[in-house]
Amino acid sequence: MTDVVGKRTLITGAASGIGKLLAWRLADAGARLVLWDIDAAGLGELETDLVAAGHEVDIYTCDLTSRDKIAAVAARTLADGGPIDILVNNAGIVSGKTLLDISEQEIERTFQVNTLALFWTVRAFLPAMMERDSGHIVTVASAAGLAGTAKLTDYCSSKFAAVGFDESLRLELKKQGSNVVTTVVCPFYINTGMFDGVKTRFSWLLPILKPEVVVQRIVKAIQKDRRRLIMPWFIYTGWPIRLLPVSWFDALMAFFGVSHSMDDFRGGSGKS
Ligand SMILES: NC(=O)c1ccc[n+]([C@@H]2O[C@H](COP(=O)([O-])OP(=O)(O)OC[C@H]3O[C@@H](n4cnc5c(N)ncnc54)[C@H](OP(=O)(O)O)[C@@H]3O)[C@@H](O)[C@H]2O)c1
Repeated sequence: MTDVVGKRTLITGAASGIGKLLAWRLADAGARLVLWDIDAAGLGELETDLVAAGHEVDIYTCDLTSRDKIAAVAARTLADGGPIDILVNNAGIVSGKTLLDISEQEIERTFQVNTLALFWTVRAFLPAMMERDSGHIVTVASAAGLAGTAKLTDYCSSKFAAVGFDESLRLELKKQGSNVVTTVVCPFYINTGMFDGVKTRFSWLLPILKPEVVVQRIVKAIQKDRRRLIMPWFIYTGWPIRLLPVSWFDALMAFFGVSHSMDDFRGGSGKS
């Protein structure tokens, strides 16, 4: 069990969406917050509101596309307030274009934020967790890290990598006899604005998720040391249907509307 009360909890991408809601929920549950985002203004507003509500919070503007900037901000975070107990790698971006329409810069940026930043933040904060033999690393991946989708080649592959990152790290820590816990989070689309315009064919099987519900489940997963949080339950069927021939898999992805889910996409990653 991970008791969040008094725990120094770092959330990346905290200025909006899931990260912002998570900050509120974890603060209400008693966590001491450290919030990172590229959006300095949004982060400042959130800090003002959290402090007014009586919560303890440190904020740092950090561009996760830069390994050097992550290292510098991580060093400041450690020097200012000591080790991190719970690291929530939440920041993510999406371009939502076909492979030939995505720019090279967009492809690189997607991997920098969604994948490489996981390496740099965990390498910065894991040593102190290992030393104290306690800590929790949460990777907010996606259901897009479990199955591919049209117009999401960069996003899906960066999230597949995030799922592989968590799984390998989990096994590595276990092999080392460490009590540091990892949790990977794989939700279907969430109504935060990041994926505005996406559609689902059978909303009773694959609903567009409410951010509040996702965040509530993430907090519970952290508290209960759940290693994997996939939602909704229907996403689990992706594993057995992979045993079918590829043409059947593709037909089922089309039938359930997944292949067409991005057709009317107009979301995307705001200021970054
Ligand atoms: N929304 C969904 O449907 C969905 C589904 C499954 C998984 N997820 C994952 O859940 C996580 C949160 O998504 P969300 O919907 O809450 O997205 P969001 O509302 O767009 O929030 C993401 C936050 O990360 C920040 N960010 C972007 N680039 C950054 C960078 N280079 N350095 C630091 N911060 C950066 C964004 O700042 P700016 O606003 O300034 O860009 C924003 O504050 C992501 O990892 C996403 O992939 C989302």
